[in-house]
Amino acid sequence: MTDDSGMSVISDTTLRQNLAATPTLSAWVSANAGSGKTHVLARRVIRLLLRGARPSAILCLTYTKAASAEMSNRIFRTLGEWVRLDDAGLAGRIAELEGREAEPHQLIRARRLFATALETPGGLKIQTIHAFCEAVLHRFPLEANIPGHFSVLDDQKATELLAEARRQLMSTQSFENDPDLAAAVTEALDTGGEAGFDKLLQGLYARRRDYMAFDARARTPQAAEALIRDALGLLPQENEASLVETAWPLDALPVDYIRAVFDFARLGQIIDQGL
Ligand SMILES: Nc1ncnc2c1ncn2[C@@H]1O[C@H](COP(=O)(O)OP(=O)(O)OP(=O)(O)O)[C@@H](O)[C@H]1O
Ligand SMILES: [Mg+2]
Repeated sequence: MTDDSGMSVISDTTLRQNLAATPTLSAWVSANAGSGKTHVLARRVIRLLLRGARPSAILCLTYTKAASAEMSNRIFRTLGEWVRLDDAGLAGRIAELEGREAEPHQLIRARRLFATALETPGGLKIQTIHAFCEAVLHRFPLEANIPGHFSVLDDQKATELLAEARRQLMSTQSFENDPDLAAAVTEALDTGGEAGFDKLLQGLYARRRDYMAFDARARTPQAAEALIRDALGLLPQENEASLVETAWPLDALPVDYIRAVFDFARLGQIIDQGL
């Protein structure tokens, strides 16, 4: 872009983007969607490589797979283009990126970057934070106290396993072997119906760690009741009847009002039925 006098004008945004992409500065970038965050990160990585950083020493973490693919595509697209540019073209691109004229050795390095970044063992690492954490756990299973050959459960597999567990739980055999279980399941079904029971199982699964902690402490029905009372902040003398009494003091109920509402509803019904 140029102004009236023909001077090159660099927008404020580009200046700020260039500052954030300067490898020697630590930067925290927070900006609106589509405003150029990925653009800045990709440029920062390319400038690091241009200054001779080892590709394997660079780690870029994203939240989604789409974002890491996007980062990776942009970097390799730029480096791929550089291989094919002539000296003048490449010098121009580097000058634009670095904000100063390219040095001859930079041109040679710039042309090799595509191959170096691709070929280095362990290469340039651009991945999701989930993939990174999984890789760390695979390398340090002892320290993390997990089995060495674990695999990560995806949502679909988890749903299948949950359905299988439900089938086993509801089998006649497990009910015959465990009358307490049969009684508990029957009560849960009576209270919540089929849908409510599934919701209960899903809820327990989603908060299984909390439930397991509760289960470990609630060894007897009394202990379970004490834990629940504590969690709800109930006083020792409070029970179902006293709670209903406190929440709905009978003498404070607006009985006339409720009766009027019922009458009105009945009137509506009569009208609906064509009087
Ligand atoms: N300084 C710039 N010059 C030219 N194009 C730019 C510049 N900054 C960003 N863009 C372009 O704007 C578009 C959006 O940028 P980018 O994808 O980097 O934004 P983002 O902040 O990462 O978006 P999102 O929030 O969706 O992840 C891209 O096509 C990018 O190439
Ligand atoms: Mg982005």
